[in-house]
Amino acid sequence: MELGATEAIGDVPVDRYAEVPRKAEVAAPAVVALPVGEVDCVAEARAAVRGVQSLAELAEAQGAFEHCEIRKGARNFVFSDGNPASRVMVIGEAPGRDEDIEGKPFVGRAGQLLDRMFAAIGLVRGAEDPAKSLYITNVMPWRPPGNRTPEAAEIAMMLPFLERHVALAEPEIIVLMGNTPCSAALGQVGILKLRGQWVNAFGRPALPMTHPAYLLRNPAAKREAWADLLAVQARLRSGA
Ligand code: URA
Repeated sequence: MELGATEAIGDVPVDRYAEVPRKAEVAAPAVVALPVGEVDCVAEARAAVRGVQSLAELAEAQGAFEHCEIRKGARNFVFSDGNPASRVMVIGEAPGRDEDIEGKPFVGRAGQLLDRMFAAIGLVRGAEDPAKSLYITNVMPWRPPGNRTPEAAEIAMMLPFLERHVALAEPEIIVLMGNTPCSAALGQVGILKLRGQWVNAFGRPALPMTHPAYLLRNPAAKREAWADLLAVQARLRSGA
């Protein structure tokens, strides 16, 4: 009205600048916008893990998976670290900057705290004895841009890989570090409510815990995390 318009030609405003496609681009948005795209990515992931018999084959299949946009911005594929024979498998969210650079999970500040936490109950990643070691992975093997939280569709397409990862590593106990692995394994978030209670994830006993990055920001929560670590230790002592 300020510009002198006297009639509306539609009920909602339209950004014509965003709308004008160059000829070559006309078909592309329609393909990207297809709702079946997401479903296909999950199907592709399931197909990629079919026939995978070892962790080395799984790493190869996941590293070659082309359908996750996040991989485009990442330097490295971050598969796992520690001893795959460990009784305990820790599942985190996604690599951060340091992990992306090193190609290993949990090597930055949060990772150093994670190491100290588990060392306090006698578990050290890379230890040869499976009773004293840890095996560590993430839901997402690539660093999300700006360290954002992986989206539901991205988690869904990584889930077949994670399921196979757990089945091949055969841990006795899983620790779900924060909301993203809880979302992947349990279909639930709300880590402050979930933490400390044993659940079933991928057919195995699992304990959701607050993420060490959260503990760095909220040191008062370390008390509960310590109780959770003691619960892991007690379960291991009782034969898991
Ligand atoms: N946070 C995670 O969840 N995983 C990592 O590897 C590093 C930080």
